[in-house]
Amino acid sequence: MTTKTLMVTGAGGYIGSNSVEVLLQSGYRVVAVDNFSQGFREPLEMLQNEHGEDKLVVYTSDLTESGAHEVMKQEPEIEGIMHFAALLNVGESMLVPEKYFTNNIIGTQRLLHAAIDQGISRFIFSSSCTVYGDIKNPPVDETAPLQRPASAYGHTKKMCEEILQWYDQLDKLKYISLRYFNVCGANDAGTLGDAKRETFGLMQNAVKGALGIRPFEFNYQEVDTPDGSPIRDYINVVDLAIGHVKAYEYLESNNTSDAFNLGTGHGTSVLEIVNTIKEVLGADFPTKPAASRRTGEIPQIFADAAHAKEVLGWVATRDIKKSIETMAVFYKNHPNGW
Ligand SMILES: NC(=O)c1ccc[n+]([C@@H]2O[C@H](COP(=O)([O-])OP(=O)(O)OC[C@H]3O[C@@H](n4cnc5c(N)ncnc54)[C@H](O)[C@@H]3O)[C@@H](O)[C@H]2O)c1
Repeated sequence: MTTKTLMVTGAGGYIGSNSVEVLLQSGYRVVAVDNFSQGFREPLEMLQNEHGEDKLVVYTSDLTESGAHEVMKQEPEIEGIMHFAALLNVGESMLVPEKYFTNNIIGTQRLLHAAIDQGISRFIFSSSCTVYGDIKNPPVDETAPLQRPASAYGHTKKMCEEILQWYDQLDKLKYISLRYFNVCGANDAGTLGDAKRETFGLMQNAVKGALGIRPFEFNYQEVDTPDGSPIRDYINVVDLAIGHVKAYEYLESNNTSDAFNLGTGHGTSVLEIVNTIKEVLGADFPTKPAASRRTGEIPQIFADAAHAKEVLGWVATRDIKKSIETMAVFYKNHPNGW
């Protein structure tokens, strides 16, 4: 087992905390950084209790300030960074884009500047399939050009990827961008889940609805797909976290920058998701097409995940049912988050 030290930003969040757990299970030591504006200390305290405070060190620090630099000076063993910290409420990003450009772009740039200054040259970036813009013919692979995303939030991901391309070209560091599709589920024990105060994922909100935590009525946009509802690619959060560890190992051995889709490679319609939730959790709620048709709803988005399989040896193994079950365990124990 390795005892390498990685910095994980946004470690108190949904994907960050799950990735910290997988890193600890894989033998890494983790320096966790979060400003806790959205995320929580409790999942990290839980992991410290399980794995030891020497294996997981937690810093409260804001990336838009000089926090990351200070942490790196105090933790000279850091060999690489997994950068999850960001704001990601798409709707809010269209109302207050300045908040998103400052937090996500300036925060990432300050982190990168500090890493380059400290000679940390391996960087894993949380990107999103939103960087592909309006996908016309799924599945989409990584050779598809980055296009203008539909939201200011999405644009922050595209801009960060472009900054990373410059640092790679100018030989400042090597990076891997991981483009996530629709993230769902909790860890296998159901103890680390999506505790955002306002969850926006379909599975998150439908599971909460099924458990009676909050009302849920499913209105979907009718589009041109076999069952008339949009098709998306639902990726389990633990599979996603394992993809990060594989990406880091690849970066370490090959010192080559790259981008990978992290998705299952299969589309599932949102109607299928909701019907499976009803079946697995024995619940019922109203399901109907939205009264008015929103323009611009993309009928189908799913990943071509072959590049991650061939190069990283990574495939998603947890199915939709598993994600629903683990998410339900988490929300039963944390109906109001942490
Ligand atoms: N959840 C998804 O479906 C999804 C899909 C695609 C991409 N992503 C990306 O994955 C990453 C993690 O998403 P998540 O769902 O875990 O979100 P989250 O909100 O649960 O976690 C993000 C964490 O970052 C922290 N943070 C935000 N700004 C910070 C700053 N300036 N300094 C320090 N900490 C800061 C928050 O407090 C929070 O703990 C994000 O970069 C997001 O854009 C998520």
